Amino acid sequence: MADTRTIDREALLAHAREARDRAYAPYSEYRVGAAVFTGSGKVFVGANVENASYGLTVCAERVAAWAAVVAGERTLIAMAVAGEPGKRSVPCGACLQVLSEFGPDMEIIVENESGAIEVHRLSEFLPEAFSLDAE
Ligand code: THU
Repeated sequence: MADTRTIDREALLAHAREARDRAYAPYSEYRVGAAVFTGSGKVFVGANVENASYGLTVCAERVAAWAAVVAGERTLIAMAVAGEPGKRSVPCGACLQVLSEFGPDMEIIVENESGAIEVHRLSEFLPEAFSLDAE
């Protein structure tokens, strides 16, 4: 099984940037791309998909996570997120909760305002994710 030692962070972020180009964001004009690296060593991508009924919008991170899950993946190792160039885009709270289901200790790779890579853990952003396993 793949683990954090085998992540090519730059390559994962490149996948996220490429996916961002396929975002559908005519309302906010804020495009986000995400790429997730899974336990079997594969990469799945997502981008935000907005809707005229604004609340139906789905974030890039959930699209990528769900693509991985429906392909049979059950372990998420790392996710790279690319927001609009020049912006630092951290997954929203709802996405963090969804990601925690399949990668409670996963790495979150974000591009900061100046284009440099920041490496974080999901647990830093969401220290108390909801889980039925909690004591
Ligand atoms: N968005 C994401 O795709 N990921 C996030 O973590 C936060 C926000 C999208 C949703 C919406 O299409 C646009 O960014 C502006 O909120």
